[in-house]
Amino acid sequence: MGTLIQYLTVVSAIVLAVQSQPSFMEYIERRLSAFEDRITLWYDQTQRYSSEYREFKNQILALVDGLDKEREEQRNNLDIATSRIDRIERELDYLETRNPAPTCVEVDDKILEQTVEKAQEKKQKYNKVIECREMIANIKAMKIVKKLETTSGLWTKDLLSDSEKVYVFDGVGNDTVYEFARLRDLTDFSGLMKAKKIKLPYPWAGTGHLVYKGFLYYIRNEPQFQVIKFDLRNKTVTDSAMFPAEQQIPIYSLSPFNYIDLAADVDGLWAIYATKENENRICLARLDPKSLDIEQMWDTPCPIENAENAFVICGTLYVVYNTRLRSRSRIQCVYDVSDMVTTEDAPLVYFPKRYGTHSSIKYNPVEKNLYAWDDGYQIIYRLAMKQKSEL
Ligand SMILES: *[C@@H]1O[C@H](CO)[C@@H](O)[C@H](O)[C@H]1NC(C)=O
Ligand SMILES: *[C@@H]1O[C@H](CO)[C@@H](O)[C@H](O)[C@H]1NC(C)=O
Repeated sequence: MGTLIQYLTVVSAIVLAVQSQPSFMEYIERRLSAFEDRITLWYDQTQRYSSEYREFKNQILALVDGLDKEREEQRNNLDIATSRIDRIERELDYLETRNPAPTCVEVDDKILEQTVEKAQEKKQKYNKVIECREMIANIKAMKIVKKLETTSGLWTKDLLSDSEKVYVFDGVGNDTVYEFARLRDLTDFSGLMKAKKIKLPYPWAGTGHLVYKGFLYYIRNEPQFQVIKFDLRNKTVTDSAMFPAEQQIPIYSLSPFNYIDLAADVDGLWAIYATKENENRICLARLDPKSLDIEQMWDTPCPIENAENAFVICGTLYVVYNTRLRSRSRIQCVYDVSDMVTTEDAPLVYFPKRYGTHSSIKYNPVEKNLYAWDDGYQIIYRLAMKQKSEL
């Protein structure tokens, strides 16, 4: 946060400088190009890059002091400069997460300590045993299965059965779900034509739904947040539950249509959500698949900001982050309810390619694959797993 404030100071400094002196613009142009080139060339040399950036900032701050504030014709140039600075900042963010620079401001440490203390206060070990001990080691491969027209949506199989059926939620709100008898029916050229349409009694909202042991669990937003359990065999609602959290907010800043995101692993069902109360961090709850009762809830340290999606494997929440420009999605925050894995232990896993933002990612515990929807592409990611190490 401290560094972000510094960068913002630089942006406003540049705004003032450019308004006052056109020749200054050229200087900034030159320097920005240099930085952009360096990002490509010196991708890994984070620390050196950061300190040069700080030097550049100081230079500008010094120059700005002497300039007057009158010109407005430069507004266009200014917009370009601002967006380039924005991009550089995002790149910097990205580089810093790969190879964190030493903290340069004292305030940073304090904030961090408080956050850690707070997280520890709220940390509560799960009171049931999680049998499964696997965690992600890497993403082995990806396969693009299909491209549909809708940018955001959800596709999944039944996550805990050997059924071949595939379900498509085309968009982020509707009352119809497409059911394909097998994956091949989705991948051939007939679009959604080969699907059976299932019309639900209440519309679904977001991409937080899942199919689990023959039931569709889906999220209803209106009139309030509800989880609906729908029997896919006889097409009836078997249960529904109000979600007990208050003042819910979108869970992922890059997929703002999700207020509740359901996840399944071999142990059962989970709900990922966020509330105003928990300072912009993601919360996790354990759901009883039969009654939809919430068994336990956790405040995780994972921020909402720049999160695009999340999923749960063996009681561990994996949150996927991105920056809007040029970067690849990555698992950058991990929270384990059995307390065996922390973000520091977990490998920083990058997704192989970037199209847009993952509007949904569902873990399939039977196949050990992720079913994802990225900017209209339906993708399967194959995971390499390893054992959570005993601590
Ligand atoms: C669902 O989607 C279809 C196809 O895009 C559209 O025609 C229909 O109006 C939508 N229904 C609702 C309830 O949004
Ligand atoms: C649908 O099937 C479930 C069992 O899977 C049963 O409990 C329920 O009564 C059935 N509903 C209807 C309307 O047949």
